[in-house]
Amino acid sequence: MTVQPIRLFGDPVLRTPAEPVVDFDRELRQLVEDLTETMREQSGAGLAAPQIGVGLRVFSFDVDDVLGYLINPVLEFPDEEEQEGPEGCLSIPGLYFDTKRRQNVIAKGFNAYGDPLQIVGTGLMARCVQHETDHLDGVLFVDRLDRAARKAALRAIRSADWYDPMRPPQIKVSPHASRGIFG
Ligand code: NI
Repeated sequence: MTVQPIRLFGDPVLRTPAEPVVDFDRELRQLVEDLTETMREQSGAGLAAPQIGVGLRVFSFDVDDVLGYLINPVLEFPDEEEQEGPEGCLSIPGLYFDTKRRQNVIAKGFNAYGDPLQIVGTGLMARCVQHETDHLDGVLFVDRLDRAARKAALRAIRSADWYDPMRPPQIKVSPHASRGIFG
């Protein structure tokens, strides 16, 4: 397993919708291992493949001692209930903003062997699943803030010591270069 560098806000890979996984092969299982290892090393609650530069629809999670991952997730919301609470992102380090999310979610997808897998999440797990699935659509949690809060968040990001607007984008070729969007 290999810990990978985390892509930071400003890196275009975070704004590019990820491609569905087609091949459930060894490379995919390696990606799941890298994601999981990197997430744990960073003490993250979740990590999406674009955050390590891979444009595939895969995320890992580690919430309330439940460790797992999901491939090609599709979300369903069983009710209208919402939650509001602090949210952060390994790609926007050190900054947390109250973010509104659905309280309950059912995430349907696959494991690394192509078998169907379902996560029924509530509270923090539901928040994590929504946050990570957003990453796969090129969406960051600051996009979910209302206008005034988003403005304040972007100001905080621009003055963060890690933020470098001149940093050249680093795009890693996806494990499946022929189908990958960065190949
Ligand atoms: Ni994130």
